[in-house]
Amino acid sequence: MELLLAALALTTLIVAVILIGTRGRPMVFFKAFGEFVAALSANKGPLAIVGGCVVLTAAFLLFFYFPSAGNIGPAQPIPFSHRVHAGHKAINCRFCHPYVERSTFPGLPPVEKCLYCHTYIIANHPEIQKEHRYFNTNTPTPWVKVNYLPEHVLFNHQRHLKKGIECFNCHGKIETMDRIQSNHFYMGFCLDCHRQKKVNVGCWLACHS
Ligand code: HEC
Ligand code: HEC
Ligand code: HEC
Ligand code: HEC
Repeated sequence: MELLLAALALTTLIVAVILIGTRGRPMVFFKAFGEFVAALSANKGPLAIVGGCVVLTAAFLLFFYFPSAGNIGPAQPIPFSHRVHAGHKAINCRFCHPYVERSTFPGLPPVEKCLYCHTYIIANHPEIQKEHRYFNTNTPTPWVKVNYLPEHVLFNHQRHLKKGIECFNCHGKIETMDRIQSNHFYMGFCLDCHRQKKVNVGCWLACHS
């Protein structure tokens, strides 16, 4: 209904503009329009080039300003999926990140923890074979870090979790991600919530070392 009204209003407006613009002789407009179309089709080549340039520029700007649309995070040495483990299999975050409550560093799970299950589950999967190789050679899995906090910021999970703030408030829906997206935590992100929850925003004392 609203759409119909809008269409009607638009049509009326266009007719009015044509009538006023041609001082009551609408045929002048249609004749001019026909000539315009004829001129266009006579210059197809140059027009195609101009059109192409416009489209390319628009596409460039779009990709330049919205690069994150396809950003699925860096490839990891083993294509570990939080969607499979934390989502589909509903394994608790704290099973693999046990120190999140107690230490400044939540910790990434050592390969032993993976093998706790994968000695039995899909044990012959080539990616699980890789885990065995890391385990046998005593190599820590070279996980690529994805969260960045500027060097001089003090952050502590514990205080936040104690106040009932959940993982997803800061990390997003990790349990739906195959690869975790890179994330830079900027100060605005911290301050928005601190203001909302009326926490200390005297950051030069509280958050900066
Ligand atoms: C609590 C048990 C458990 C733990 C711990 C565990 N996994 Fe898994 N993993 C699973 C299950 C269940 C599947 C699904 C198997 C299937 O597809 O049949 C799976 C699947 C996988 C797959 C295959 C996924 C795919 O897309 O096909 C990989 C790779 C993997 N896990 C790596 C790891 C790594 C690396 C760790 C350690 C950081 C780990 N897993 C820890 C239970 C576990
Ligand atoms: C089966 C083990 C397992 C479970 C369960 C798990 N994680 Fe992870 N997590 C990992 C591994 C392995 C990595 C490193 C590889 C990667 O970044 O994908 C990781 C990386 C992360 C990172 C990025 C660390 C960084 O800065 O590089 C975050 C954030 C994270 N997990 C949060 C969570 C949350 C929130 C949950 C629960 C919804 C969860 N994890 C459940 C194993 C697990
Ligand atoms: C108040 C915001 C906030 C909450 C809530 C939060 N995190 Fe984090 N998390 C961060 C920030 C900021 C970093 C980056 C810290 C750094 O690089 O020193 C981080 C880093 C991590 C890392 C990577 C640590 C490493 O050693 O590289 C893991 C794993 C992680 N968080 C898991 C979790 C889990 C699991 C939960 C929920 C139980 C959780 N986080 C809740 C803000 C949060
Ligand atoms: C989703 C909300 C939320 C986000 C996001 C958040 N915080 Fe907090 N933060 C809190 C709450 C609530 C407290 C109060 C905890 C308490 O009272 O013990 C707190 C407390 C703190 C404290 C202790 C303050 C004091 O008075 O000593 C520091 C330091 C801190 N946050 C740093 C950070 C940093 C750095 C970030 C960004 C990486 C961040 N926070 C992001 C909610 C948040």
